[in-house]
Amino acid sequence: MKFKRFKHSIIQNLITKIFVKIGLPTKDAKICSYSLVRSDLRGVWSHGIARTSIYCKRIIKKVANPKPKLKIKFFSQSIAHLNGNNGLGFVIANRAIDEAIKMAKKNGIGLVAVSNSNHFGMAALYLEKAVKHNCMSWIFTNASPALPPHGAMAPHFGTSPFAFGCPTNKKDVPFILDMATSSVARGKLKFAAQRGEKIPYGLALDKQGNPTNDGFKAFEGIMLPFGGMKGAGLSWMMDIVGGIFTGANFNGKVKNAISNFSGPANVGHVFICVKSNIFQKNFNQRMMQGIQTAKRLKLAKGFKTILHPGEPEAIKLKENLKKGIPISPDIVADLKNLAQSLGIKIKL
Ligand SMILES: NC(=O)c1ccc[n+]([C@@H]2O[C@H](COP(=O)([O-])OP(=O)(O)OC[C@H]3O[C@@H](n4cnc5c(N)ncnc54)[C@H](O)[C@@H]3O)[C@@H](O)[C@H]2O)c1
Repeated sequence: MKFKRFKHSIIQNLITKIFVKIGLPTKDAKICSYSLVRSDLRGVWSHGIARTSIYCKRIIKKVANPKPKLKIKFFSQSIAHLNGNNGLGFVIANRAIDEAIKMAKKNGIGLVAVSNSNHFGMAALYLEKAVKHNCMSWIFTNASPALPPHGAMAPHFGTSPFAFGCPTNKKDVPFILDMATSSVARGKLKFAAQRGEKIPYGLALDKQGNPTNDGFKAFEGIMLPFGGMKGAGLSWMMDIVGGIFTGANFNGKVKNAISNFSGPANVGHVFICVKSNIFQKNFNQRMMQGIQTAKRLKLAKGFKTILHPGEPEAIKLKENLKKGIPISPDIVADLKNLAQSLGIKIKL
């Protein structure tokens, strides 16, 4: 498939217009368009602009709120709960991480639990904010049923990413570990299916539980966790922290953003920020020592270099900012159709 590169600001402006047209305040529309485009810039295309129409559809079908009234309740100087009033996940998660950062800067640590939210996209969006403020951060979310608990044959827990970030000595290259608990992010299957592409065996099973390399059958079927019971255990943990703890839906009740329009998804998240230099004033220098030592280790066969989590995305970001974001023809067509259906004139 031939991808065409687009200047990211052009796509971002278009997506802002789209979100404004469906009723979001401009400030919130800008948060959403930034989030989607930022994901593509970092190479995380499965959670980027390809999902614009998915989020819009939830607003248009009135199962998400374009103008939520966020309600925050403080339980202590470091603990708060945010009710997202069924707004888009990007808007709610941005407010939550901002509050967690504020509390961490003031009191050393901040925790914000969120209920009544929606899919918040790439978790790294919020880690990037935290590390800029010299915070170490952990982010949890639950998600719609996709993975079975170990030993089961039915999708039940989410592909919920495990997400941790901290600053390093290089401002533009933070340590960001942001990984789905499935063997592959579910969005990658969806878009493989859309394009009729094959996927490697071992990532998912079809509805009957047979191994499949068909993206569509996999998306409709059962995703497999990474590392067997370990990934399955982490996705269960996400349902406890993101769902049971926060008051959001849990236990297989979070609605799928793409296919279930029967009501609000009620996703839950937790954002934890800690001042990274609280114990060691030279945290960033210690990070540099750790990274440099790891990078000098003997290379495994087939490897030219050792990267730390977050580094591949930092490299992609630099490249895409310079050359433009590569977008596949089906996603360009989807964006064009969406814009035109809303009466927005565009030339792409
Ligand atoms: N909101 C949700 O419900 C939800 C659910 C699932 C996934 N997601 C998002 O999907 C995105 C993609 O997830 P994924 O699991 O496909 O990510 P991935 O497999 O592309 O990357 C996972 C991690 O591995 C690191 N990595 C990659 N190559 C590396 C290398 N050569 N050396 C060292 N580290 C390396 C990356 O920096 C990243 O931190 C994430 O941003 C995640 O937040 C969101």
